[in-house]
Amino acid sequence: MKILVSGGLGYIGSHTVVELLEKNYEVVIIDNLNNSHIEVQSKINRITSKKCTFIELDATDYEGLKEICKMHHFDSIIHFAGYKAVGESTAEPLMYYYNNVVSTITLARVGIEEKINKFIFSSSATVYGDGVSPFNEDMALLERTNPYGETKAMSERILIDASRANPDFNVILLRYFNPIGAHKSGLIGEVPKGIPNNLMPYITQVAKGIREKLWIFGNDYDTIDGTGVRDYIHVVDLAKGHVAALESVKKSCNIFNLGTGKGISVLELVNTFMRVNKINIPYEITNRRPGDIAVSYADVSKAQNELNWKAELTLDDMVRDAWNFEKNLKKHLVDSS
Ligand code: WQD
Repeated sequence: MKILVSGGLGYIGSHTVVELLEKNYEVVIIDNLNNSHIEVQSKINRITSKKCTFIELDATDYEGLKEICKMHHFDSIIHFAGYKAVGESTAEPLMYYYNNVVSTITLARVGIEEKINKFIFSSSATVYGDGVSPFNEDMALLERTNPYGETKAMSERILIDASRANPDFNVILLRYFNPIGAHKSGLIGEVPKGIPNNLMPYITQVAKGIREKLWIFGNDYDTIDGTGVRDYIHVVDLAKGHVAALESVKKSCNIFNLGTGKGISVLELVNTFMRVNKINIPYEITNRRPGDIAVSYADVSKAQNELNWKAELTLDDMVRDAWNFEKNLKKHLVDSS
């Protein structure tokens, strides 16, 4: 089985490629290196003692994709490539809509034309907007989140319609909750561009001394300790969810939440990080971040029942592996601003 993976050198993509290679799938990665690094390919090969192919290509490049598909005869496509910073998407909406939506359309078009029957899409819990947790896959999506979230919701709708119109084109939409952690080898993990937007990479940079302290965005939410609650999932469990989806029964279009089903507050995560890694994380409470919701966690029963998959790794594993990756990261791409 040969899989085309777009964005396969990125954070979630690279961990998924490792799991695919471990299961003896052949993998061809396309990536435009916009938010990833070429060295990740050799690290993937080192972890697995196998070889994946890498082609530098933008997922919006129809001609380029056609050529690669004619050469390789893929069985499936997993589409990770995309911009993912919520704040940046508000400042640069057209760039987000163009890149994220056109790449989905282009890959789906090529998939249908080349008779590649399975398409797995990297969606996000952000499509649930400010609904009430636990989120389940049958909930109606809210109208507005932010341009990034909209690109995910639009891509989902496009793929649902494409699968309806093309009965052999089977689509699986995977809605990720909050992936954190890194491969236990410490060789691959999350390397954010500039100042991290997300909590876990910010914490690991504070631990390393790159940032002075963590700013906790609000402690007046209606939650266990007033801080925001999220469903953190180990990126390796998330990667395994893709393999489970790939091996699941075909159906024209199916949607699965990938999370643990458990909500953890910011303070719980910070305290777990400090306990497990024996490092102090100085923090200060500041105002709520605009656009944040109080609580987000998944109903994971559908993935458990239909994919026979469930997250296995603990919060302790997540914070240990996140720190193990960060402390081994020699060259940090931190922007001086
Ligand atoms: C988690 C919690 C913050 C940073 C976003 C996107 C989502 C997905 C993942 C994908 C919240 C708090 C954070 C900090 C803090 N996107 N926080 N101080 O907002 O749940 O999800 O990233 O690629 O689509 O919306 O994740 O990690 O930013 O925040 O207090 O410096 O940590 O308020 O409660 P979020 P996050």
